[in-house]
Amino acid sequence: MKKIALILFVLISNIVLFAQDNLLQNNYLREGVTLNGRWNYIVDVYESGYYNYRREPHDESENPGAGAYFMNAKPKDKTDRVEYDFDAAPTLLVPGDWNSQKENLYYYEGTLWYKKSFDVPNYDSSKRYYLHFGAVNYFADVYVNGKKLGAHRGGFTPFNFEMSKVLKAKDNFVVVRVDNKRFPDEVPTVSTDWWNYGGITRDVTIYELSQTFIEDYSIQLDKANSKQLKGFTQLNGESKANTQVVVKIPELNISKTYTTDSKGFVEFAIPVKKINKWSDNNPKLYTVSISTDTDKISDKIGFRRIETKGSDILLNGEKVFLKGISIHEENVMRGGRAHSIEDARVLLGWAKELGCNFVRLAHYPHNENMVRLADKMGLLVWEEIPVYWTIDWKNMETYKKAETQLKEAVTRDKNRASVIIWSMANETPQSEERLSFLTNLAKATRALDNTRLITAALEDHPSADDKNIMVIEDKFSDVVDIVSFNQYYGWYGGKIEDLKNIRWEIDIDKPVIISEFGAAALQGFHGDKSTMWTEDNQAYLYEETLPALARIPQFSGVTPWILTDFRSPRRMHDVYQNGYNRKGLISETGNKKKAFYTLQKFYKNLKTQN
Ligand code: GCU
Repeated sequence: MKKIALILFVLISNIVLFAQDNLLQNNYLREGVTLNGRWNYIVDVYESGYYNYRREPHDESENPGAGAYFMNAKPKDKTDRVEYDFDAAPTLLVPGDWNSQKENLYYYEGTLWYKKSFDVPNYDSSKRYYLHFGAVNYFADVYVNGKKLGAHRGGFTPFNFEMSKVLKAKDNFVVVRVDNKRFPDEVPTVSTDWWNYGGITRDVTIYELSQTFIEDYSIQLDKANSKQLKGFTQLNGESKANTQVVVKIPELNISKTYTTDSKGFVEFAIPVKKINKWSDNNPKLYTVSISTDTDKISDKIGFRRIETKGSDILLNGEKVFLKGISIHEENVMRGGRAHSIEDARVLLGWAKELGCNFVRLAHYPHNENMVRLADKMGLLVWEEIPVYWTIDWKNMETYKKAETQLKEAVTRDKNRASVIIWSMANETPQSEERLSFLTNLAKATRALDNTRLITAALEDHPSADDKNIMVIEDKFSDVVDIVSFNQYYGWYGGKIEDLKNIRWEIDIDKPVIISEFGAAALQGFHGDKSTMWTEDNQAYLYEETLPALARIPQFSGVTPWILTDFRSPRRMHDVYQNGYNRKGLISETGNKKKAFYTLQKFYKNLKTQN
């Protein structure tokens, strides 16, 4: 009986203790204490730091054994056995994936432990303290001073835990167990065309907050009435109810005071006469401040409307053509996951140099630097979650994982004017279960944010009666706002020279974006244009594909695959690939290929209203 009671106690405390804390909105512009830098690490292939020899998790035991790594134990004296020592262990840079930092971790998929010791400057026990992670790929278990704060799954979205109760002024330590193994029922599933970079891949920051603070907010042009701003504020803390919240936008002479309800929540609508609307040609950001008597945050927000009308995409009521490029989150020259503002400047700088006003951040939510910089640069953004290829559509748990990642992405970026599209999926095999899965995701997204457009990268195929006529036959095209599809005519089948005879017949009165096309080329390899892997062949495919796509009546945008070469375990040809997918327009040495200039010229000459 005692054993059952103990198991119940542990289970309930896990549920209570490990429920994630709501995401801190706008942590990016809050003053925080960074824990970035060198963390000690221990590779734990057999996960003995997490499970005892009976495969029971140490952290579900009242007395975790000497092998529980999260205790960061030290021998009490010379007779005391402790079989690990973080302080004697090597270090990894955080943020950063482990694969690109250590030769012997290049292919590693498994559990790896991180430890960081830290003091809290100006520690104030009357304050509340949160520990925020920009992302960890893929599973994370987080402990501070030997106490579990919680766990998170999903490799590309932020999460945070309150650690007030276990924190001290000095001599703290945080231990994170990271596991990047792939599983069929996770999101993404086991097969992807990108490198499974593991680790604490984005910033780690401590936030000191008042007892009652501003946890979440949004403010945006009202979709139904562009003469007013709509928004909400959510407070967190004991005195969140019936609390005054002041919203200020000085440049618009706005200063409004509201009072929260019993749950610390208040919704508001603010009439505005004249707003300088954000757009790709005019990335105007307003300073918005929200304050209470104990907290104040300020954010930089652009106000714009994005909608469709028939087969047009309208930005602030005017037709816009999306001159785009697809981007993986990789600093191809350094190798490894991109994460910093400098990485973002390189990637989005290249997109601008191409003449883009649009980027597809494939195939998962990128780090916040990318969307914040896109706001400033006037780049429209397609954001997506890694519902990619053969997801476990029948599994309700898998659906919840996808929906959680989507909610985390929408919560983080709902105030970013640059984000105009949420994409539900990429190249997913059609079935009733997949249709229901994606339709529910779209519903959940619209319930969270009805101000942006929904799409998914679908697939085309030759029509039954004419192989030169390509069609999209996918019931999810009824659900989306924009019909997007990937097509590789001339690379995965078909001849480039036949593209002039190819037509897409898409009998849907919605905008169409071609979300991928491309060919691989080894930078510096030249030959005649029919020779695969040459820059000339890649450029030839661009020269023939772009005008063919431009013949699609609903042609509203295109994001060729892809800005830079990127690492993939699927690309192992030792001469042409060397572990890289070579469809980039720029190589891993930062050299532009011939097709870069082909696309640049196409965008320069494109006759569009914007
Ligand atoms: C697919 C997929 C990409 C992949 C690309 C390719 O369309 O969406 O993730 O990298 O094709 O084969 O290069």
